[in-house]
Amino acid sequence: MKKNSKIYIAGHSGMVGSALLRHLMEKGFTSLIFRTSRELDLTNQAAVAKFFKEESPEYVFLAAAKVGGIEANNTQRAQFLYQNLMIESNVIHQSYLNNVLKLLFLASSCIYPKYADQPIKEEALLSGKLEPTNEPYAIAKIAGVKLCENYNKEYGCDFISVMPTNLYGPNDNYDLKNSHVLPALLRKFHEAKIQNLKSVEIWGTGTPMREFLHVDDLAEACIYLMDIYKGNISVNIGTGKDISIHDLALLIKEILGYQGKLVWKKEKPDGTPRKLLDVSLIHSLGWEHKIQLRQGIEQVYHEKFTSAHE
Ligand SMILES: NC(=O)c1ccc[n+]([C@@H]2O[C@H](COP(=O)([O-])OP(=O)(O)OC[C@H]3O[C@@H](n4cnc5c(N)ncnc54)[C@H](OP(=O)(O)O)[C@@H]3O)[C@@H](O)[C@H]2O)c1
Repeated sequence: MKKNSKIYIAGHSGMVGSALLRHLMEKGFTSLIFRTSRELDLTNQAAVAKFFKEESPEYVFLAAAKVGGIEANNTQRAQFLYQNLMIESNVIHQSYLNNVLKLLFLASSCIYPKYADQPIKEEALLSGKLEPTNEPYAIAKIAGVKLCENYNKEYGCDFISVMPTNLYGPNDNYDLKNSHVLPALLRKFHEAKIQNLKSVEIWGTGTPMREFLHVDDLAEACIYLMDIYKGNISVNIGTGKDISIHDLALLIKEILGYQGKLVWKKEKPDGTPRKLLDVSLIHSLGWEHKIQLRQGIEQVYHEKFTSAHE
């Protein structure tokens, strides 16, 4: 990408898109295009076609999607499938029709099979059954990966996809109805602390193992791959280190200085037992994460909660 290349960030208001926008601006890219979903509904084929024709972006970061935690994925199953399929199909097809030089599609590590061998290698995609709670989201994301791969094969496009692990960072979703585990725990512990509650309820058994990447690291990885990577393998992006939900809860409790107890709601779903990415491919391409988990959580907590509430 040149500093004046026309770059469209689809989903710039979200956690990933806003990190991409921040990092691209910091690096001096001057011709960045973005629209909110109100201004441009990416599920609307005609509107997306008009936008691409008018704007002719040269590079596209596709970070727009319907995203959520276990509860939202499990209850809004049709919406997760339909909206994500439409967004990807419209943006990827119009990128092809309008000669976009390169597109990077944000897939996700939750599209790997539920019982994939750990750490999960890129080849594990489509090698087993999916986690039932987020199967519709996963099917839509797999379709996006396959769109990129097959537009490359049939039309000679340069569309790549990436598989980020669980993310956290600025502009995360803290709504307990549909947030991911790390922001949900931060919010619960923060509220318990300021309200002097004796205990915090946490969903599941605490045994699942998860990996967490700061979204600033993800943005750096995506911009790096946009410049140096070409190929049909969807590249894992993670830290290569995991932690149990139990230990994550204890870490957040300690960082916040909360003194109460943890109550595990064992009847609630755990999701996939372990999810750790094999990051040897991205390491071999010359990229590694920089922000360690404790440092990242401290930073996010202070930015999000302490200045506003204390
Ligand atoms: N968060 C994670 O832990 C994680 C992990 C791995 C992969 N990913 C992937 O990263 C991508 C972005 O995730 P995120 O966490 O940044 O999501 P997010 O914070 O929920 O942001 C979603 C973005 O998509 C836009 N969007 C949704 N529906 C749209 C529509 N119909 N038309 C136009 N824009 C629409 C939203 O725009 P408005 O705000 O204007 O509605 C928003 O900018 C997704 O593809 C996700 O699968 C995320």
